[in-house]
Amino acid sequence: SWRMDSWVDDAIAKVRAQVGDANVLCALSGGVDSAVAATLVARAIGKQLTCIYVDTGLMRKDESAGVVAAFRDVLHLNVVHVDAKARFLARLAGVEDPEEKRIRIGHEFIAIFEEESKKIPDVRFLVQGTLYPDVIESKTPDSKAGHKIKSHHNVGGLPERMALNLVEPLRALFKDEVREAGRVLGLPNAIVERQPFPGPGLAVRIIGKVNDATLATVRDADFIVTSEIDAAIAEGKLSPRPWQYFAVLTPVRSVGVMGDGRTYANLVGVRAITSEDGMTADWARLPHDLLERISTRIINEVPGVNRVAYDITSKPPATVEWE
Ligand code: XMP
Repeated sequence: SWRMDSWVDDAIAKVRAQVGDANVLCALSGGVDSAVAATLVARAIGKQLTCIYVDTGLMRKDESAGVVAAFRDVLHLNVVHVDAKARFLARLAGVEDPEEKRIRIGHEFIAIFEEESKKIPDVRFLVQGTLYPDVIESKTPDSKAGHKIKSHHNVGGLPERMALNLVEPLRALFKDEVREAGRVLGLPNAIVERQPFPGPGLAVRIIGKVNDATLATVRDADFIVTSEIDAAIAEGKLSPRPWQYFAVLTPVRSVGVMGDGRTYANLVGVRAITSEDGMTADWARLPHDLLERISTRIINEVPGVNRVAYDITSKPPATVEWE
């Protein structure tokens, strides 16, 4: 729209005025907010911006390669791709507690980001995709006192430690406006319409221990859930697109039968929700034939899984994620 075009022009001019000729860093996550913020800042200051993509190894199928390709080859941003999977898996070895997983992932992320940023000279600013609802939330007494239900570690604490000033070009926008700004800036649909994905990634979608084997299982099951739901949307069989949809690997094992044999294998949970803002949510009424196809494919194609359950809990009392 005309209004958003002129908002973008104005925001670009403001960034240029704020940073001058200093170098600027950005942590790319693959999410809409950091993508739009980075692209906008790059429009303002070009190669003064370096985006760091810390690849935790906890992303969905083909996701990291897709994110890096989109930003390097399509948007022509300066991207440093740090393959840190081994470090994250070492940190997570044997850990089962959800908060402990988040804390360890958050610390490792910050350590790696800091190491990488020291390689770039004269950095004085850090871009963050803070939105208006984040600004409001951080002012509520509850979140100040740390009464959050789940800690959301991203790059929290980093600006202070590295003495960086923040560039937050999206502070006045709501999520739908960020998507609109992304379209104005020419971001691909895969990024603009990407569903929210937690910073700790698949680690909080594996109930229990995170390792190569559990990651492979949840990743394969998740790929079936997302591709079947995306296909149903494309064919006009499901509308609107659920807010989030994914698979969860549980350590629960149950008895099944396959051919002449008895199986004793894991249970996968499937979650699809509708929501306005992620604060409250309802389970999506997916068509039964779609659920059936998802279930059949997971059992047939994902080794080590013999049962699928669909999550029919709303938020509250449940949360979106199982951890
Ligand atoms: P919950 O599970 O708290 O999720 O109902 C609400 C929204 O937040 C996402 N989520 C996270 N995002 N780091 C993130 O960046 C996290 O640790 C985290 N935990 C949950 C979740 O996917 C949903 O969109």
